[in-house]
Amino acid sequence: MSINSWPALDGMAYGGDYNPEQWSREVWDEDVALMREAGVNLVSVGIFSWAMLEPKEGLYDFSWMDELLDLLHANGIAVDLGTPSVSPPAWFFHAYPESRVITKDGTVMGFGSRGMASHASTEYREAIARMATELARHYADHPAVVMWHVHNEYGVPVGEDFGPRSVANWRLWLQGRYSTLEALNEAWGTAFWGQRYGDWEHVVAPAATPTIANPAMKLDWARFTDDQLRECFRIERDAIRQHSDKPVTTNFMAHQSWNTDLWKWAQEVDVVSDDHYLWAPDPDGHVGLALSADLTRSVGGNDPWILMEHSSSAVNWQGRNVAKRPGEERRNALTHVGRGADGILFFQWRASRSGAEKFHSAMLPHAGKDSRVFREVVQLGQHLKDIAEVRGSRVVADVAVLYDWESLWAHDLEWRPSDDMQFRERMRAYYERLWRDDVTVDFAHPEADLSGYRLVVAPSSYLLTAAAGENLCAYVAGGGTLLVGAFSGIVDEHDAVHAGGFGAPLKDALGLTVEEFLPLREGETCDVVFDGAAMTADAWAEDIALAGAEVRGTFAGGPGDALPAITRHQHGQGAGWYVGARLTHETLAPVFAQVYADAGIVPAGGPEGLETITRHGADHDFVIAVNHREDAVSLSITGTELLSGAQIDGTLDLKGGDAAVVRIARAQQGGGA
Ligand code: GAL
Repeated sequence: MSINSWPALDGMAYGGDYNPEQWSREVWDEDVALMREAGVNLVSVGIFSWAMLEPKEGLYDFSWMDELLDLLHANGIAVDLGTPSVSPPAWFFHAYPESRVITKDGTVMGFGSRGMASHASTEYREAIARMATELARHYADHPAVVMWHVHNEYGVPVGEDFGPRSVANWRLWLQGRYSTLEALNEAWGTAFWGQRYGDWEHVVAPAATPTIANPAMKLDWARFTDDQLRECFRIERDAIRQHSDKPVTTNFMAHQSWNTDLWKWAQEVDVVSDDHYLWAPDPDGHVGLALSADLTRSVGGNDPWILMEHSSSAVNWQGRNVAKRPGEERRNALTHVGRGADGILFFQWRASRSGAEKFHSAMLPHAGKDSRVFREVVQLGQHLKDIAEVRGSRVVADVAVLYDWESLWAHDLEWRPSDDMQFRERMRAYYERLWRDDVTVDFAHPEADLSGYRLVVAPSSYLLTAAAGENLCAYVAGGGTLLVGAFSGIVDEHDAVHAGGFGAPLKDALGLTVEEFLPLREGETCDVVFDGAAMTADAWAEDIALAGAEVRGTFAGGPGDALPAITRHQHGQGAGWYVGARLTHETLAPVFAQVYADAGIVPAGGPEGLETITRHGADHDFVIAVNHREDAVSLSITGTELLSGAQIDGTLDLKGGDAAVVRIARAQQGGGA
């Protein structure tokens, strides 16, 4: 069967999660009328509906959903049909109590919330296969259904399970990976602390232990958990496939995902979709949003993707749930579009009166349709119609940022040289520098073909396989520019330190290894002198063993006083830069300026906070410009501004907080993979 790779919809997708089982039938009529007013053309239904669809084991009741789907279809609203496997009903846990998740410290997770049953439970796996089959059989040919939405955010709120069946699967998984116990003992370095295993039955999960558990074991446990979740996804997807050729997705969480290696997950879905919520303590949350959107596009091989969930205003699950201010949601949505989204959906359509998420914003808030939020929702729906021609166009980048979930898992284990060196924090600092310079990036796996990029940035590649090291060295030798952040190239896939000194896999490219780490105390700072100017750094210094690299910056003060901090190395046709300090996005600016020059990259040079991204279409290009500043800015551009229809002849003036989408003449495409 040939599978459709995009839901059958005209233009951009627009809508949200729709959970009408919370409401009486009259409300449904009002909902669809208001959806039409807002320009909604796609809603996700059924994600949490298991208890309504199978009120008793084996007794399926699709009557209410039949009525709902017919109503939506009659109103021109398509359906992204959820499978409800994320929230099994009370009867399920009552009948199969051993399907409950057991946490690391032995707590059995009870019912009364939401969250997946144990991924290892045979009864759970059978039940989700049956449900997916019944749904697919019943709705495969329903004209409203254009896409399948399996599960919800794999890995949260729980991904790991330490119950006996999971541990049994873990042993089988390890046997598949290592074949022999000797190989496992070697990979995990069990000779240390007397952990040697003599029998597979003795291998346990990294549950509660007196002090830290073996890090290689924990890294494999993360891989195992990810694999098990993906197995559960495949059970449902394959059940749907028996009856339907419509595309299947599951909603990722990009930079916020922990348990899922999205490079692998993206291979399993027909359409990549992602959820993103602003993190209120971060006043520049829109930078994290852009990172998340670029990462989502990249895992999907740069194909268009769908923003499956975001919020019209505040969420309700953070400590202080900051509301979006007028125009902010519009900027957020258009940034997602700029970075490749061809669909903008929310959680959720109508605000809940009851339950855990009643203080979460919605497209239709508690205040009703006569509200700022709903007016902005209607405006956004119109915008997406106005820019329908953007759909299918592509983002092309000259810069790749390396991102590897395995490295994240390994990096964030315990007992590292400094708690201050964190994967996500480093990723954000480097990304933010690029964002502030308005340089569009892709993300890439360290073993991917990087030859199409002028610049590759590795902010935090603690775990780097020998193959990845060779890949990066060959990339530089072939003429690429590589910029590597501190604490990179340290361990292999078993979290074992590479032979030959810290950073040995990158020695040829960078012309150095690191002899010793010199972390700073909490709150302590030192200077890094670069290009004659001193900048403050914190957290980290190190003793670099030069092997050909030229020193460009030096530590001043602190434990690394007078030692090299920033280096450049000519290797073959290219250059390898290294930053052995923890610099912020501000202090990284002069370093990046020189790296760009090496790589032949010329940043747009607009005012900081004006975000511009180009999508390349078949006949035209589209520039999405988002002004995050409070003051007005001007942009040199000629074309048609699609949100207003205005012709722009040379200069676009954008008020503070405003955004625009300009169709311009087709430009020559740059590099990029
Ligand atoms: C998501 C989840 C939704 C809703 C939303 C609230 O993580 O998928 O069901 O809970 O958060 O922000």
